[in-house]
Amino acid sequence: MSSELLAVRGLTRRFGGLIALNNLSFSVQEGEIIGLIGPNGAGKTTAFNAITGTVPPSSGTVHFNGINISGGPPSRVVAAGLARTFQSTSTYPNETVAENVYRGMLSRIAGSAVGLLTGRRNRNLSPTSIPAEIDQILGVTDLQSWRNAAAGSLPYGLQKKLGIAVALATQPRMLLLDEPAAGLNHEECRDLTRLLRRLRDDGLTLLLVEHHMALVMDLCHRIVVLVQGEKIAEGTPEQISQDPAVIEAYLGAPDYAHA
Ligand SMILES: Nc1ncnc2c1ncn2[C@@H]1O[C@H](COP(=O)(O)OP(=O)(O)O)[C@@H](O)[C@H]1O
Ligand SMILES: [Mg+2]
Repeated sequence: MSSELLAVRGLTRRFGGLIALNNLSFSVQEGEIIGLIGPNGAGKTTAFNAITGTVPPSSGTVHFNGINISGGPPSRVVAAGLARTFQSTSTYPNETVAENVYRGMLSRIAGSAVGLLTGRRNRNLSPTSIPAEIDQILGVTDLQSWRNAAAGSLPYGLQKKLGIAVALATQPRMLLLDEPAAGLNHEECRDLTRLLRRLRDDGLTLLLVEHHMALVMDLCHRIVVLVQGEKIAEGTPEQISQDPAVIEAYLGAPDYAHA
């Protein structure tokens, strides 16, 4: 874990008079799991959107693997190796699970030139390897038995896992997850933890926005805390869980009841 993969510098996003994200800076090393936590409205999703080019930042820069990806567009960000899931499920409900995964793979065609530039291997699709690759991704996410089911017919927890499968199909070097545990029952949450641990062990770099503190504290190497658009703390799970400002602003708040 010595090379800086993601560098966020002074990232700011305004919506009219509201500063949703103010001057956020942090870095992520290759292979690291970073948690981004904070109360509702803190700017976590805005940070995600500004990093992945879904909304242009008002100011600040984002570098991924040394490439300036500030302001997107999202296709360029994905092609550089940075994939994301959405806070709500975002699959195509009438298409099968396998077809949804295939859509993720298709992003690599448009991105192949950038993929080559960034030195990534195996990003190009070969028609003969597509079914095997879909099988492999469904294997990792444990969705094999749902291969030909319509995505919309899956239980909610599996739809969220399918969102991760689609992101994995882009062959990312880093994955950003926006509240993957939200709405999951206990068993689904355990299942998700297993999957994220596996991705971590496979060397994937992760940025995790999550309210489920047990999950965050368990998985993350480092945590960044946002409150009202400002970074108020950054540190190891141990440091963050003992930080008085974090306890005051978030961990000790009445609506915090997820751990
Ligand atoms: N598209 C938008 N237009 C206007 N305000 C927005 C928009 N998206 C987010 N905001 C505002 O920005 C702030 C941060 O929101 P968000 O990033 O969604 O927070 P979080 O994900 O931490 O709950 C909130 O006050 C929210 O209302
Ligand atoms: Mg959010």
